[in-house]
Amino acid sequence: MKTNNRHHKERTFCQVMICFVTIPFLLQACAQEAKIGVSNLRGEFMENPIGIDIDSPSLSWEIDANIRGVKQTGYHILVASSLEKLNADEGDLWDSKLVRSEKSTNVSYNGKPLESRATCYWKVKTTTNLGPSDWSQPARWIMAFTNNEDWKATWIGLDRSFPGDILKGKTRLAARYFRKEFQNEEKIDKAMLYISGLGLYKVHLNGEKIGDQVLSPTPTDYTKSVKYNTFDVTDFLATGDNAIGVVLGNGRFFNMRTIEDDSFPPLPPTQNYGYPKMILQLEIFYADGSQQTVVSDDSWKVTANGPIIANNEFDGEEYDARKEMTGWSDAGFDDYNWLKVDLTNAPRGNLEAQLNPNIKIMETLSPQSISEPKPGVYVLDMGQNMVGWVSMKVNGNAGEQVKLRFAEVLNDDGTVYMGNIRNARVTDVYTLKGAENEFWEPSFTYHGFRYVEVTGYPGVPTVKDFEGKVIYDEMETVGHFETSDSTINQIYKNAYWGIRGNYRGMPTDCPQRDEKMGWLGDRATGSHGESFIFNNHNLYAKWLDDIEEAQTEEGSIPDVAPAYWRNYNDNMTWPGAYLIIANMLYEQFGDDRPIIKHYDSMKKWMKYMRDNFMEENIMPRDLYGDWCMPPESPEMIHSADPARRTDGILLGTSFYYHMLCLLEKFALLQNKTDEATDFSNQAALVKEAYNSRFFNKETAQYSNNTVTANLVSLRFGLVPEGFGERVFSNIVDKTMNEFNGHVSTGLVGIQWLMRGLSDHGRGDIAYKIATNRDYPSWGYMIENGATTIWELWNGNTADPTMNSHNHVMLLGDLIVWFYEYLAGIQNLSGSIGFRDIHMQPYVVDGLDYVTASHHSMQGLIKSAWRKNENSFEWDITIPGNSSAVVYIPAKEMKQITETGDNISKARGIKFLRQEKEFFVFEVGSGDYRFKVVD
Ligand code: BGC
Repeated sequence: MKTNNRHHKERTFCQVMICFVTIPFLLQACAQEAKIGVSNLRGEFMENPIGIDIDSPSLSWEIDANIRGVKQTGYHILVASSLEKLNADEGDLWDSKLVRSEKSTNVSYNGKPLESRATCYWKVKTTTNLGPSDWSQPARWIMAFTNNEDWKATWIGLDRSFPGDILKGKTRLAARYFRKEFQNEEKIDKAMLYISGLGLYKVHLNGEKIGDQVLSPTPTDYTKSVKYNTFDVTDFLATGDNAIGVVLGNGRFFNMRTIEDDSFPPLPPTQNYGYPKMILQLEIFYADGSQQTVVSDDSWKVTANGPIIANNEFDGEEYDARKEMTGWSDAGFDDYNWLKVDLTNAPRGNLEAQLNPNIKIMETLSPQSISEPKPGVYVLDMGQNMVGWVSMKVNGNAGEQVKLRFAEVLNDDGTVYMGNIRNARVTDVYTLKGAENEFWEPSFTYHGFRYVEVTGYPGVPTVKDFEGKVIYDEMETVGHFETSDSTINQIYKNAYWGIRGNYRGMPTDCPQRDEKMGWLGDRATGSHGESFIFNNHNLYAKWLDDIEEAQTEEGSIPDVAPAYWRNYNDNMTWPGAYLIIANMLYEQFGDDRPIIKHYDSMKKWMKYMRDNFMEENIMPRDLYGDWCMPPESPEMIHSADPARRTDGILLGTSFYYHMLCLLEKFALLQNKTDEATDFSNQAALVKEAYNSRFFNKETAQYSNNTVTANLVSLRFGLVPEGFGERVFSNIVDKTMNEFNGHVSTGLVGIQWLMRGLSDHGRGDIAYKIATNRDYPSWGYMIENGATTIWELWNGNTADPTMNSHNHVMLLGDLIVWFYEYLAGIQNLSGSIGFRDIHMQPYVVDGLDYVTASHHSMQGLIKSAWRKNENSFEWDITIPGNSSAVVYIPAKEMKQITETGDNISKARGIKFLRQEKEFFVFEVGSGDYRFKVVD
């Protein structure tokens, strides 16, 4: 047995879902039949739940009710080892009994130790202020292996190159095919398959592919951890002869590049973990109680002489259909010419169940048009910059070759523009076998593209011959946002496409050129905005693990995680995402475990930075500056104008301060008051040094007075008492007078820009920035045909070496502003996971309506407002077990009605206070229709 025997690291996250029920009960006071129900996050019994291996999964439920003001007062959870037991109300694994608590999310399992292979069925009922609910529908989760000893399988591979493989520069390997036959007895009760195949695997049983995941498993630093997936394969097995077939691609395991002399900008080699390898265990349980285990071992056979002759995530996939091996994953296939597998070393990383979702084909697009800019060169237009691949139907002779090349933009002559793809080949090649109606799509590559160049296609291709497969991590869309402004709507749509296209088991910088890496800085505040649109909880929890795994012994954190590039640059702004995202998971999902888990590593990083680089409370380490701020001339990537560039030492020090404040918060959360005091003392010293070095009291300007310098100082709480408004007026002055009401920040400043402007009463400027159509703006991108967000404000004119058309880093806090400000849905200060909500619409001039919703951990939150000629209407929904402080814009209370009644008479609404132009009320869960008539 060659698996790694290290003990399982403690892994505590993973959101488990539960089911849904609504149970009627009669509430005396109300004529209508009231229903209070408990439901899981999304209300479905998962067909194929992922296998997990953690001690204490976290359980959450939602409370549905058709009456207002429902608050949970207690819960009772039952977890049983069988459905029968659960149905008989027997919680043999855990009976929490009635727990008096308002907590309905992230409740940690606290029953008997969970054993490998267990299926755990659970349900919950709650008591509320308005009466009890009945039991929810049952839900379940399954346990994979809780102990490495459970693995009886061996890592196998073809631990050498195969003729045709290229190991240097633009590497190429043929896919490795593995097979094994076995016999089954009759009456199979259950069969479970556990597999990790590195870099990527596809597994088949008796000719059928198992699961609908693609590009699995999730990428990690394989020297630290390796993830496996679990499948219930009971229905795929036959009595008698059976066969398993596995194909392995490179993914991020076999390096995509070694050092390339000709690459520009020069890129480091990607990390190489060796030739693809796999581990598999199939456990078959028979009705008579006996059991059979089939494992990867030296009895398997392998070949690299199959149809996938090359695969590389930068360069594409080449498939020769003439080399197909019909029936290779069925029993009875003649594998005489196949090789004996190599028993290989296990990758050094701990073998763990994958808790974040796998990638799937989430949507299919048909090309909108096809053109022929040159004879025989066709170009498909997908109508949308997307991420994934195209599938193709084709008829022709054996040996004819179709080439597909992927691009984001076109040249003026209608051919594909490849300049910004840099050194990636992005070419899929399909060689026909000469059969009727051949169909093909790649297995081990993906591209970022709107256009596809098709050459070598026999006959004339039509749009009907192709389909775009949109891939990303399987996560639910939990947000909806629409306004009366078409620019804002299109920006939102572009962001939606960009964000999901950059989820690849890690948030990537871009999907098209020779990077596709988890750059930390790009997703700091962005992750917060993203969480309104996608349930990215488990993905970002996983990414924090990647970051921790990338940390060196000394404490350094690189700029890219998993660290496929070893970018240990010791700056503050990129690694700072580690703390910012842990805080995001806490605030948006109410989950404190990432903070607790990573707290020591965060402290270690901060100490490392202080011990090695701090000079008299100034942190001089910065590398990227305010990355990609709009430069002074259209062809530039970075500004050369010292007046536009934000001082890197200011960024390093302000971020260090911000991190200390976060650490203080994280310490207090864990009742570590001494540590909190220590962080706050350190912060005070940094603040003093910062202000004496960068702040000019005369002018109330920081350093050279860039918007970013003033803004981060203001937002991080660095500005001395009494100077806030003057610092802010410098931001306004700069923005309005020097930048003519346009954005002047790059990746750093933009993370606080929209909220910063709005909080100081200049939401009008934020709105102008959001709706500008000229350079620099998101609207300018749209004017120039963008259907995603660009890497550069001047992405249409800048040097091609850095003008990805699908980067999301310049979104900054825009999406946060859309939801929290324009729609007015945010956590009440001090609340987490939307337990208490602050609902305050930002009714800016220029917008007639906003309609938004966010399905939070507590349940669905809605906000839809509309300005009419002489009235303002606002419909909101507050989920069960939440309450909200609601800000209604009105001059007098008597102008306000709720569902037709004067607000003072409305049920479940409590007046709190008048605040500026708002009347402020407290409401409980339920639907409300407010109207303010002039
Ligand atoms: C990447 C980024 C990244 C940056 C930092 C770029 O090449 O695409 O998004 O944050 O480098 O240097």
